[in-house]
Amino acid sequence: MNNGPNQQILEQLVGKVVGDVAGAMGVFMAYLGDQAGVYQAMDEAGPSTVEELSGKTGLNPKYLHEWLGANAAAGYVTYDSTNERFSLSNEQALVFTREGQPACVQGFFQAVMSQYETHTKAVETFKSGKGRPWGEHSKCCFCATDRFFRPGYAANLIDNWIPALDGVGAKLKSGARIADIGCGHGSSSILLAQAYPESQVFAFDFHEPSIVEARQKARAAGVKNVQFDVARAQDFPGKDFDLACIFDALHDMGDPVGAARHIRETLKPDGTLMLIEPLAGDSMNENLHPLGQIYYAFSTTICTPASLAQEVGLGLGAQAGQKRLTEVLNQAGFTRVRRATETPTNMVLEVRL
Ligand SMILES: C[S@@+](CC[C@H](N)C(=O)[O-])C[C@H]1O[C@@H](n2cnc3c(N)ncnc32)[C@H](O)[C@@H]1O
Repeated sequence: MNNGPNQQILEQLVGKVVGDVAGAMGVFMAYLGDQAGVYQAMDEAGPSTVEELSGKTGLNPKYLHEWLGANAAAGYVTYDSTNERFSLSNEQALVFTREGQPACVQGFFQAVMSQYETHTKAVETFKSGKGRPWGEHSKCCFCATDRFFRPGYAANLIDNWIPALDGVGAKLKSGARIADIGCGHGSSSILLAQAYPESQVFAFDFHEPSIVEARQKARAAGVKNVQFDVARAQDFPGKDFDLACIFDALHDMGDPVGAARHIRETLKPDGTLMLIEPLAGDSMNENLHPLGQIYYAFSTTICTPASLAQEVGLGLGAQAGQKRLTEVLNQAGFTRVRRATETPTNMVLEVRL
């Protein structure tokens, strides 16, 4: 009896891994190009030779040659061998350099790099089983989180998510009290404040450097009806909110039941909690695809350790799914949970008393 490996399956698996390693280096190369301004220079210059791009960016042509080769092989840039020029198609420009466009993935790449940057700490945490506080990640991780999420919020929050909630849009237009909990760098809070000038936004996060950054952003944007404070989700100040929001943060919290309970107590009786969480099915089997792989991976090094570092340390994980989230919300005293809408990456839950 032959107990050796099935050659075809082995070759398929090795082929898959080679593709993954190429992808890992592709992320690294894309990050280099972003930080050194190469994609932007290419977008401005149009089809260029290595020497022309070197002149425009001030980068060593030897390095640029290798970098362009890696990018052309990845399909991230276009190479025309007839005239030895490199360029970005419209689609490549949208994905690699048009900051703020929903298709731009540089924030995603930066998030991956932030995890490689602190790989020693990740190994240590994984082996020890102990928590790793949110604030102990590299600064790049916080910028990346904001850079990655902001375009999706800009594209969806005001135009799709608020209108999907029962009666909330009208309240916000006429003037309401909004709480944004776990606001990070405050992109969602600023978008809400700008869209609803009659409303007042109170935004909270327990990570002080993020709140400092959020205040600076609000000042730079000239937005007056938003206030940022350092506070925990379980006991932030204020009451009588018409709308509370949590954007991609509940599963990072140690005590999501305590946080949701406190939100329930600070909402008006007819108030709404809008909960944005990663899209996921209710069982692991439903999440075994590339997006699930990415969420589970970030959850291994960021979300779950951040939760375990806090009191209670529930560790919901980034792929909790609506059923598990509903249990948490029910435990906190909310009775009505509805999937108001979703995007390819997020679910939007409307949560009421
Ligand atoms: C993945 S980030 C999302 C940030 C922001 N909402 C966004 O969408 O860009 C999770 C945020 O939750 C915050 N956070 C985690 N646990 C918290 C807690 N118990 N109280 C307040 N903020 C918390 C972190 O500091 C971090 O800013």
